[in-house]
Amino acid sequence: MVFVFLLYFQTGGSSWKVETGRRDGRISLSKEADENLPSSNFNIAQLKQNFAFKGLTKKDLVVLSGAHTIGVTSCFVINDRLYNFTGRSDTDPALDPTFASELKKKCKPGGGGPVLELDQGSSTVSDAHFYKAVRQNRGLLTSDAALLNDPLTRAYVKRQSTSPVKATFGKDFGKSMVKMGGIGVLTGNEGEIRKRCAFVN
Ligand code: HEM
Ligand SMILES: *[C@@H]1O[C@H](CO)[C@@H](O)[C@H](O)[C@H]1NC(C)=O
Repeated sequence: MVFVFLLYFQTGGSSWKVETGRRDGRISLSKEADENLPSSNFNIAQLKQNFAFKGLTKKDLVVLSGAHTIGVTSCFVINDRLYNFTGRSDTDPALDPTFASELKKKCKPGGGGPVLELDQGSSTVSDAHFYKAVRQNRGLLTSDAALLNDPLTRAYVKRQSTSPVKATFGKDFGKSMVKMGGIGVLTGNEGEIRKRCAFVN
C-alpha cells in the first residue's frame, strides 16, 4: 500500500493516510491471488461480483479502476478485442472504430507489438484523464470499457471526465485505497505484521 501510495503521489496524484500495522497471513500463495483477482475480460456484472466478494462497492470499482491513469499493458492482453472478439475475426464494437484501427496498426494479430499506455497520452500522470478516455470508448481493457455499462459507474465516469475534478477523484481514490488495504485483515493474535510486505517474516 505504501508502494502504491508513492506511485500515485509522485506522478501528481493525491495523497492519503496509509494505515500501517496490517496483520497478514503467514502463508502467501500466488495461486490464491490469481484466483481472486478480476480478469481484464470481465464484464460489469463479473466485476461488481468480484469486488462485492471483498466488500468493495460499485463506487470503489469505478474509483479504483482509475488506477489505470498510469501504467501500461501489452497488445497480447487486448488481442481478442482487436482481432477475435466473438471468435469470428471481429473487433469489439465497444471500441471507438478510429481508435481500434490505430491500435491495429501497432498490434499484430496474435498479440505482438509495443507496450501500450493504459491511459493513452497521459499514462505517466495521475489524473482524471483516464475517465475521459473511457467515456470516448478509448479504454484499453474490457474491464475499463465495462464501466460504461452500469448507471452508477457510468455517471461517475461522466462526472470525472467533464469537469476539472482532480480533487474529487484524488480524494475518492485515497478513500477506496484505504478500504482495499483493509480487505481480509487479521486481528488479535492471528497472523503477523510483516516487516517487508511482500514477504512473511
Ligand atoms: C477493476 C479490476 C482490474 C482489472 C481487471 C485490472 C487489470 C489490469 C491489467 C490486465 C493490466 C495490464 C497488465 C499487463 O499487461 O501486464 C493492469 C495494469 C495495471 N493495473 Fe489494473 N486492474 C484492475 C484494477 C486495478 C486496481 C484496483 C489497481 C490499483 C489500485 C490497478 C493498478 C494497475 C496498474 C498500476 C497497472 C499498470 C502496471 C504497469 O504499468 O506495469 N488495477 N490492470
Ligand atoms: C478466436 O477465438 C476462437 C473462440 O474463442 C478460437 O477458437 C480461435 O482459435 C481464435 N482464433 C485466433 C486466431 O486466435
